[in-house]
Amino acid sequence: MQSATVLIDHPLVQHKLTVLRKQETSTSKFRGVLREIALLLTYEVTRDLPLTTVRIQTPIKEMDAPKLDGKKLCFVSVLRAGNGLLEGMLDLVPSARVGHVGLYREPDTLEAKEYYFKVPSHLDQRRVIIVDPMLATGHSAVSAVTRIKQAGATDIRFLCLLAAPEGIRAFHQTHPDVTVYTAAVDQGLNEKAYIVPGLGDAGDRMFGTK
Ligand code: URA
Repeated sequence: MQSATVLIDHPLVQHKLTVLRKQETSTSKFRGVLREIALLLTYEVTRDLPLTTVRIQTPIKEMDAPKLDGKKLCFVSVLRAGNGLLEGMLDLVPSARVGHVGLYREPDTLEAKEYYFKVPSHLDQRRVIIVDPMLATGHSAVSAVTRIKQAGATDIRFLCLLAAPEGIRAFHQTHPDVTVYTAAVDQGLNEKAYIVPGLGDAGDRMFGTK
């Protein structure tokens, strides 16, 4: 199976990512820009959705116009930071179903531990986009995808804002069938498993916690 990582290098995405990275960006600005960038990322991650046509009447003439076809979308937020991107994603696709996976990093081992899991039914019939802004060690991303597969999903994409090369490698080793979409691949991880240069703790930055 060919593993794929898609770099979303649109100039607006790159510009907004710089705003998010800056230390001096306030919590409210961070949240607002995150919502904007989520729209743009969603635009790219849904770029190849299949279309069908529907017969419509414009004020001028009848025509066969394109409309989305196929599986319904389901967004799955990896708590808590995934929620920062989720809002912008739902702005663009308000009809999407939403699931939540709660994971925390065990401080000593950095392993992902699950504390919450709630997803819509019939995931096997949905196109699932799992969202977590930071793909660092890959532990939580790998666990989230594993759980979503156990729940029946077969058509899965993973969307993040920033990734570390180590995280992408670990992710593709376990889930070669799931494409990763990211706005940047940074240098690597520091001793606390933060992405370098990164943007710090995404959850703390969007919620103003420390
Ligand atoms: N999670 C974060 O919020 N930031 C990182 O740099 C790594 C993981």
